[in-house]
Amino acid sequence: MRLLSIITTSLTLFFLLLFLSIHLQAYTLEDNFTISCGTTGIVFDDERTWTGDADTKYLSGGQGRTVLTEATTQDPSVNQVPYTTARLSRSQFNYSFPVSAGPKFVRLFFYPAYYPSFPRTDASFSVQSNGFTFLKGFNASLNADAEATKTIFREYVVNINDGEILILSFTPSQPNSYAFINGIEDTYPAVSVEYRYRIRSGVSSGDWQSWH
Ligand SMILES: *[C@@H]1O[C@H](CO)[C@@H](O)[C@H](O)[C@H]1NC(C)=O
Ligand SMILES: *[C@@H]1O[C@H](CO)[C@@H](O)[C@H](O)[C@H]1NC(C)=O
Ligand SMILES: *[C@@H]1O[C@H](CO)[C@@H](O)[C@H](O)[C@H]1NC(C)=O
Repeated sequence: MRLLSIITTSLTLFFLLLFLSIHLQAYTLEDNFTISCGTTGIVFDDERTWTGDADTKYLSGGQGRTVLTEATTQDPSVNQVPYTTARLSRSQFNYSFPVSAGPKFVRLFFYPAYYPSFPRTDASFSVQSNGFTFLKGFNASLNADAEATKTIFREYVVNINDGEILILSFTPSQPNSYAFINGIEDTYPAVSVEYRYRIRSGVSSGDWQSWH
């Protein structure tokens, strides 16, 4: 029991320090991106402005082999932005975001649906960022079904060093599978995100393994 309490105290202290260090950075970083994949121009959901990625400004590799399309049918419970449109590919593609140094929250939004020529259950892929693996062999439909949800979002923290660019690599995990993405949000820690981050960090989550 005593050991458990020491571990709990150390963990609490660790997350408190983590929280404080992120808190201090929150007001010095100014870059954030909210990208709706597979669309053009600016689109809105109820809360935010999303930028389409059709002009490939944020893509840095493999974009020529990607397809921009819309889900064949969309569940009425699913928000149109960013979930209607997607960028999909049977080979690797990369996004890159020029960001300032420091911790970045990266959120990935997925709607595992049927897309023309891309069957729902064929999506299985890895996502890597600056040497870290966010998702490995991620079977999107399997995960959505297991979580009894239509859409999936995942959050990560990645530390960007001076002069580094934030890169997100999407790689199909099998010869016959594909990778896709509906939305990407990359932000410095704002207060609400920070709060959620602290709450989330108190529970054990597979996603936390990717933090550094
Ligand atoms: C970044 O996000 C914050 C809130 O999260 C917002 O106030 C600010 O305008 C955004 N900056 C840019 C450049 O989009
Ligand atoms: C994507 O980025 C990774 C890591 O920087 C690089 O090794 C790979 O060649 C890039 N892929 C493409 C298709 O450009
Ligand atoms: C994803 O999981 C589903 C359900 O188990 C399976 O039918 C499908 O083959 C898997 N897809 C890949 C590409 O592994």
